[in-house]
Formats: sequence, C-alpha cells, structure tokens
Amino acid sequence: MSLEIQGVRHSYGSRAVLRGVDLSVAPGEILCILGPSGDGKTTLLRLVAGLEALQAGRILIAGQVVAEPGREVPPEGRHAGFVFQDYALFPHLTVAGNVAFGLGLTLGGGSRAERAARVAEALGRVGLAGYEDSYPHMLSGGQQQRVALARALAPRPAVLLLDEAFASLDARLRERVRDDTLHVLQSAGIATLIVTHDAEEAMFLADRIALMRGGRVEQLDTPEALYLRPASRFVATFLGEVNSLPALVRDGVAQSALGGLPAALPDGPAELLLRPEGLRLLPPGEGIPARVEACRLLGASSLLHLAVEGAGEAPLYLHARLPPGPRLMRGDAVGLAIDPERAFVFPGGST
Ligand SMILES: Nc1ncnc2c1ncn2[C@@H]1O[C@H](COP(=O)(O)OP(=O)(O)OP(=O)(O)O)[C@@H](O)[C@H]1O
Ligand SMILES: [Mg+2]
Repeated sequence: MSLEIQGVRHSYGSRAVLRGVDLSVAPGEILCILGPSGDGKTTLLRLVAGLEALQAGRILIAGQVVAEPGREVPPEGRHAGFVFQDYALFPHLTVAGNVAFGLGLTLGGGSRAERAARVAEALGRVGLAGYEDSYPHMLSGGQQQRVALARALAPRPAVLLLDEAFASLDARLRERVRDDTLHVLQSAGIATLIVTHDAEEAMFLADRIALMRGGRVEQLDTPEALYLRPASRFVATFLGEVNSLPALVRDGVAQSALGGLPAALPDGPAELLLRPEGLRLLPPGEGIPARVEACRLLGASSLLHLAVEGAGEAPLYLHARLPPGPRLMRGDAVGLAIDPERAFVFPGGST
C-alpha cells in the first residue's frame, strides 16, 4: 500500500473531529473521501501531508512511518503532493516557476537541467507543454488547476492529496478538468486521496469511496456498491436523491403504499427509500395506480412528480426519473412498477 492511515484521531481543543479513521490506498488507486462540510476531511489530508501534528494513530507512506504521536517526518520528506482547494499558485511566478517550486523543496541541490526536465515532464502530463512562461493570471481556471496538479506531480510523489480541487470551476470546465485529471492520475500510477463533498464527483472519479460521518468512515466501498447497496439511510441519501415512505416489516417483507419488498430485518416499523430512477411507468390500470402532477424534460431524462392514488388519507408524492418518452400531462393516469435494485429498507420510522 502506498498510503496507510491507521486509527487516526484528531481534536481541536475539546472537540473531536476525527474519531478513529482507518484507510489504505494502493498505488494507482483513487480513493475519494466524501462527507458533509465540517466532518474533518481537510483535517485528514493535512495530517497526511504533515501540515498538522498527529495526535493519535499512525500514517505510513510507501511503507515508511511518516507520522505517529511525537514523531513527524516534515512535509517535504513525505513524498506527498498536495493540491489545495484554491490551487494557491504563486501569482508572481511563471507556470514553470510554480511547478519548479515544489521541486526546489524536494530535490535540494538537484541540477538546473534536471529541474527543467522534470518541469517539462509534469506540464506535458497535464497537457500544458508550451505554457512554461505564462503567468497564472493569463490562464483559465481549468489551466490553473492543471498547473497546481503539475506542481504536485513534478516531484513524483508516492501519494497525491487533492482537496476539493474542482469546486471552484464552472460546470462545463469542471467536467473537462475532471476527465483530464483522471487520465493523468491513472497514467501516473500514484496513490490518490481526493476530498470532496460532491457525491457525483466522487462517483465519477473514485475507485473506492470512503463516506465520512461524524469523524468516522460510515461506509468504504466502490461507487457502485455505495449507490446500490448503501449500508445506512445516511449513505443512501448522501449518494443520491431518494423518495422516502413509511413501511412495516413483517416476516421478512416490508409493506408500504408501493406493495411488498423483501427486507432482511426484524418485524417493526421501517423506512423505504426509493431512487427516482427506480420507478418505471406502466400503462394505466397496471401496477400501482398514480397520477401525474408535473412533468419536466431535463434533456437526457424526464423528471415526473407523481401522486400515488389510494395510499391513505394523506396523498403520497413521488419523484421519478425516466428516460425521455411521450410527454405526459398533469392529471394523466399511469401505472407504476418498482425496481427492487433501487429500493432500500432501513429499520425505524421515517424522519
Ligand atoms: N485549525 C483549526 N482550529 C480549530 N478548529 C478547526 C481548525 N481547522 C478545522 N477546524 C474545525 O474542525 C472541523 C473539521 O474541519 P475540516 O476543515 O477538516 O472539515 P471538512 O470536512 O474539510 O469541511 P468542508 O467540507 O467544509 O471543507 C470543523 O468544524 C472546523 O471548524
Ligand atoms: Mg475541507
């Protein structure tokens, strides 16, 4: 493993921020730390980078202990590259100067020629060969982000740490930079730890996702597993939109207004969570009867707002995301079917 985080805890004053985190990242693997704001994600990266003193646990990079309580390898000795949320490029240095800066720290007395070659290699990798003499203000946001990435990659780190590196880019640029970054990371074979609070971004980038909650890892698995087999209500709702319905489990079946679904839970009240894409339309008269409240075409898909009929005194509303089809109008009668792969049952009432 290129990076191992073992039993790491951290408090600011009396406030515990990390409550025992264990993670390992293999060479070439991209692990995303996903979690709500203020949950200690940046703190964890700062501990790995050596910007914060470790209070409990152990951190190893490339098999070497770089931090344990009372023993810290300084940041420049850790073989870890760091891209901050705001890139933090030096405005008074050229692109080449910015990239070389990281090398100055790690190569020590390395020769000028060696540094120039490393700078060129790193810029080539992020598609910015030829921009050596530009200044940061002459570059687009995406190009600046790639300079920051090149600066972090130039010393050939064993571990790369990215903190919300795409957050400040506009939607379209963000997609392109993400694609480019992914390509660079995969070809470089570096162990990468990416922090984000954006679930879609995590699913797009990560080989595995560690979803944090209250300073602990709530679930650690592939994006598919987190999305399709969430271990808790928290994971299910963090990874995507859900419809929530009260249910009652009896003899391994969760009964709700949408019928029965198998559930390996003890008898009692439960909550059914259903992804919007887990609903399918049937001709009126088949399946669960419902009525269209609103229909919006979102380009690649349609978003339907549906009212389930005869679900009890209070009307039950559902969101459905469907492939584009014939345009439905408010008041149209439809039938509904559920994809059990997109439905999750958790114990306890809905909140
Ligand atoms: N130097 C510090 N001194 C005191 N408290 C701090 C310090 N740095 C962070 N905190 C607190 O620790 C908690 C975790 O902060 P951290 O920056 O690690 O969260 P985060 O998960 O990165 O959040 P975000 O998604 O908003 O970036 C926050 O409540 C923050 O206010
Ligand atoms: Mg943060």
